[in-house]
Amino acid sequence: MGKFYITTPIYYVNDVPHVGHAYTTIAADVLARYHRRRGDDVFFLTGTDEHGANVAQVAKAHGKSPKEFCDKIVEHFQKAWRALHITNDFFIRTTDPLHEEAVQVFMSHLYERGEIYKGKYEGKYCLACERFLTEEDLVDGLCPDHRSEPVWYSEENYFFTLSKYQDILIKAILDASDPNHYDIAPLSRRNEVLGKIRAGLSDISISRASLSWGVPLPFDPTHTTYVWIDALLNYISAIGYKHDPQHFAHFWPADVHLMAKDILWFHAIVWPALLISAGLKPPRKVFAHGFFTVEGQKMSKTLGNVLRPQQLIDRLGASATRYLLLSHFPFGTDGDVSLAAFSERYNADLANDLGNLLNRTLSMINRYYNGAVPAASQDGVEGVDGELIDSAEQMFADMSTAMDDLAFSEATAAIWRLVARANKYVEENAPWNLAKRDRARLDTVIYNLAESLRLIAVALWPFMPEAVTELSRQLGIDLEQSIPWDQVIQWGGMVPGTRVRAKPAPLFPRVS
Ligand code: ME8
Ligand code: MG
Repeated sequence: MGKFYITTPIYYVNDVPHVGHAYTTIAADVLARYHRRRGDDVFFLTGTDEHGANVAQVAKAHGKSPKEFCDKIVEHFQKAWRALHITNDFFIRTTDPLHEEAVQVFMSHLYERGEIYKGKYEGKYCLACERFLTEEDLVDGLCPDHRSEPVWYSEENYFFTLSKYQDILIKAILDASDPNHYDIAPLSRRNEVLGKIRAGLSDISISRASLSWGVPLPFDPTHTTYVWIDALLNYISAIGYKHDPQHFAHFWPADVHLMAKDILWFHAIVWPALLISAGLKPPRKVFAHGFFTVEGQKMSKTLGNVLRPQQLIDRLGASATRYLLLSHFPFGTDGDVSLAAFSERYNADLANDLGNLLNRTLSMINRYYNGAVPAASQDGVEGVDGELIDSAEQMFADMSTAMDDLAFSEATAAIWRLVARANKYVEENAPWNLAKRDRARLDTVIYNLAESLRLIAVALWPFMPEAVTELSRQLGIDLEQSIPWDQVIQWGGMVPGTRVRAKPAPLFPRVS
């Protein structure tokens, strides 16, 4: 097994986390847990983006210094991630001194390599995006994403020679044997990025003369580093680019940078070019998922429809929130979120399908076997037993493919096919009739159900760690993380005689 370095964007601290931030972070956590479980050496990074004009302005509006303001908001992010059981290995803040030093080291390096020159920048700038917009970007004179009026900037800036990377990037994307090769996914996004690069790249401004809330350029401290350059560098500073070269060499390049499509340009064009210009490898993969709307509308503070992760957690619990966000629509496409739709799916998938399978299995083990899982008396390769066992094997095969493609909703669908197959198996075998006339057959049926639940728990754990841990307790098993993956997914791991919970509480009480 290898190493696996996965990142989320570092979020702006101009607002507390909403469900969009939670979506990316949960996806990263599921992948991190899955890779750890399979034996990879995982480094999972998230954090906050704290410099820039926008944060400085919002802090001022709150009557706080930027750092004071950041310190407060960061707590909200950290609290939200704890509540969602996020297992990041590190939380980077761009105000960390180690990060700031790394930014300076990197900028000096580029400067020495002749990749930076001084010029004049004039143009329209969106504060909320923290980026320059061209006339073509604007819609009715406004930023298309934020519907706000851009401000006019005119100042001496330092520039990065992005234009000279046009052909280098195209080749790096298209040619899998190129030493700088990187993947952009999904495919439609990759084509979009290629189109943009082919249309031509302009050099980009990488400093601000008028903004003090940022990292000073080492070769001209009257300028601060443009917040986007500062932010992108978190991915290398956090793993020790400056302070721990060995750790850095082990984990770089990143295996996947996750984000939504809004910031793909920076990650798929600017970032690889910066890395190549510094003699470093681009990330292996950049994945842009879709954007949420809430009840059909774009989430916005002005519309008052911003959904906070805690609202979902309060109603459905953290595990169900994680599951519902990732199974609701394909990762990579846009989708709509609503409490009503989520509650409905919670009742269908969790309270009914999975909850019933667990409850009926446990209550039969209690009723017919005094709470101890029986041994299967038939070796089940034929008929419905064989179908159930095949279905369990198929679940792991499908899940593994889906997880490699970051197709989370396909992975959960694969798990639910086994849940459905096991529920059907109960109907097919009618254990309540067997209890009277065929104990040997009953032993096998009940064992197979308990074993199916064990395997469902193994597969579902990265998605719903807390709920699955509770499920396992009720089932009397310990989801021993030390058993190698290839072994734990084999049919037959449930030990006969295992004692299940006598009076289990429903794992997913219905919601109204
Ligand atoms: O862009 N649907 O930070 P940010 C889905 N600081 N995902 C959403 C979403 C939505 N409606 N809204 C936000 C920044 N996201 C920079 C990043 S990285 C070097 C610097 C998620 O706070 C999604 O991951 O605006 C998106 O890319 C990110 O939040 C933007 O977060
Ligand atoms: Mg944003």
